Amino acid sequence: SEPVRVALLGCGVVGSAVARRLQERAGEFEARIGAPLQIIGAAVRDVEKPRPESSLSHDQFTTDAKGLVARADLVIELMGGLEPARELLLHAMSSGAGVITANKLLLGENGPELYEAAERSGVDFYYEAAVAGAIPLLRPLHVSLAGDSVHRVTGIVNGTTNFILDKMDRTGAELEDVLREAQELGYAETDPTADVEGYDARAKAAILASLAFHTRVSSREVHCEGIMAITSEDIRAARMTGHVIKLLAICERVTDADGDAALNVRVHPALMPRSHPLASVREAYNAVFVQTELAGELMFYGPGAGGDPTASAVLGDVVQAARHRVSGGRGPGESAYAGLPVQSIGSA
Ligand code: NAP
Ligand code: HSE
Repeated sequence: SEPVRVALLGCGVVGSAVARRLQERAGEFEARIGAPLQIIGAAVRDVEKPRPESSLSHDQFTTDAKGLVARADLVIELMGGLEPARELLLHAMSSGAGVITANKLLLGENGPELYEAAERSGVDFYYEAAVAGAIPLLRPLHVSLAGDSVHRVTGIVNGTTNFILDKMDRTGAELEDVLREAQELGYAETDPTADVEGYDARAKAAILASLAFHTRVSSREVHCEGIMAITSEDIRAARMTGHVIKLLAICERVTDADGDAALNVRVHPALMPRSHPLASVREAYNAVFVQTELAGELMFYGPGAGGDPTASAVLGDVVQAARHRVSGGRGPGESAYAGLPVQSIGSA
């Protein structure tokens, strides 16, 4: 079969890991997809920056992201931020390319616009890596649980802040010192304010609520408090009473003041008894606890950040979208998360 032409937008922590694995495992991907994947280029800001971990050659880098998108069958967006990512993804969809992204910030702000554009163009639009890194979470939540009724989703969905709070708890260190370490390990956002102020978890909470409750929640509707005010003294005080402090994203069905069903979606630090399953989540791991009517309680756990774990989720989406490209269709019930009905939301 003809190669599937893949454009990579961004070649940093995650993009490099994705590029490298696409090349190292080219034979495996071809066997799973039924056609080879051809990386037609990687858009970056600085083409002269050495990126040996990507295994791409110098001539594969470009600053012309738009030109790259125009020639692609699949676009993998790993540049982050709102613009130009939003415009490039809309452009990709309108020209018939499938889109894969890990950009939760963009999905939290502009998700509905993108879902609608994907639906209109009839292209695949996947973003499993946008919440909880490597953990297969979004498809189970939206597709596998579509016949159940989710009551509540409670998650540790930001690896950087979990790494910081865990390190502060175990070593007595101060927040700023541990944040530097999380940045060096590739867990933090390019601007780590997004992690420590809770904005990253807020976007993820909006995505989780949209998928779990088959509705549309934007980041703007999510109450958000980060961890900047937490000191080593707070951590010690929590420890004395048998607790840990965790940054939680909570999405739950509630009844509003008029007695109508609504959703409450929020992000804030919380005291957790050490015996709670979420209290033992260490380092940059994530965990998401889902309570439903029929299944009861489900727990999803795994690495929530970092190049290779995130690449695992991105590459799963790539295989699925490329298969559809080759077979000329989309899988039943897997047409991403497009066309979600709107319902009223009440947030804290
Ligand atoms: P990163 O290391 O900062 O890499 C960003 C890449 O995008 C860089 O190669 C940068 O080019 C390129 N880029 C940024 N703006 C650009 C523009 N306007 N035009 C062209 N290229 C541009 O970021 P990352 O950690 O890989 O994260 C990428 C995305 O994945 C983000 O949406 C992030 O939220 C998401 N994500 C990250 C993780 C993680 O653990 N790191 C996990 C899940 C999801 P230069 O290198 O030339 O500056
Ligand atoms: N900065 C994010 C985190 C990356 O720490 O969880 C994964 O989404």
